[in-house]
Amino acid sequence: MPKPTKMIIDTDPGVDDAMAILYAAHDPAIELLGLTTVFGNVPVQKATRNALRLCDLAGLDIPVAEGAARPSVVAPLDPAEAARIHGAEGFGPVPPQTPQRTPTPEDAADFMASMARRYRGEVTLCAIGPITNVAEALRRHPDFAANIAKIVFMGGAAQVPGNVTPYAEANTYQDPHALAEVLASGIPTLMVGLDVTMQTTGSRADFAALAKRHPDHCGFLQRPSDEYIGIYEERGLPGCGLHDPAAVIACVAPDLFNTSKIPLSVVLKGPEIGRTLPGVGATTAVCAGVDAQQLEERFFSMFG
Ligand code: BDR
Ligand code: CA
Repeated sequence: MPKPTKMIIDTDPGVDDAMAILYAAHDPAIELLGLTTVFGNVPVQKATRNALRLCDLAGLDIPVAEGAARPSVVAPLDPAEAARIHGAEGFGPVPPQTPQRTPTPEDAADFMASMARRYRGEVTLCAIGPITNVAEALRRHPDFAANIAKIVFMGGAAQVPGNVTPYAEANTYQDPHALAEVLASGIPTLMVGLDVTMQTTGSRADFAALAKRHPDHCGFLQRPSDEYIGIYEERGLPGCGLHDPAAVIACVAPDLFNTSKIPLSVVLKGPEIGRTLPGVGATTAVCAGVDAQQLEERFFSMFG
């Protein structure tokens, strides 16, 4: 069996973030070094609280480092916008709960940089929220770009419309300047955008079956995912996009994706702000296609 991939998940939990983290906690191909949190689906203090709660739930004894409370340059979104999708507390209708653990004294950018330094060339950073902390790590730590092995981010939309505006996906919309810095950094980067994450879906029946098989861990996902799926059903879709789980799975099962290396940039102003633009910019690997059936099977068979 190959050595598991050392991974940090940078996250704004978030319903699909919860799916991704619980998945990562149970995939033997992944060695989670820690979670870092960022504003996005909820304000950062709630993201940290939710990340700690997921660690309690999954029995994950790993550091959780809090990160950015606001975007690098643009004004933050009204939290009510994200609350329409993820609920005011992040997990839809599930009430908040005080976690048993506390966050690390080190913040997200410092934590990423120190892990990348300790395990030089071995750490995959999977960013499933606005990519603000990663840009901050680049600014603060000149050795970070050379030490981190690769960045896989959930965000963007290359050939399909956005989900917050007709052009932009939510994570890239919320901090396009941070993404521009990451793309220009020279770090090998893989974009897992709406092109593939909207093809990989989970239905109410899928989550109900998962909860029945594993009530202790996956039971938690059922209520939030039910509401989350409702939003997709209103748009005529049979289930929710497995956005953040797809990015985590892309870190350890790249063969499930068709990927091309293309020039990529992000629009920094105007009506198309946050749009990921193929054809101009630094060479970036972009997922263009996915074996959706295999990815869904891998995700829903988590816990064996
Ligand atoms: C992305 O935005 C957030 O709402 C989700 O958690 C995911 O990371 C999907 O566009
Ligand atoms: Ca997310």
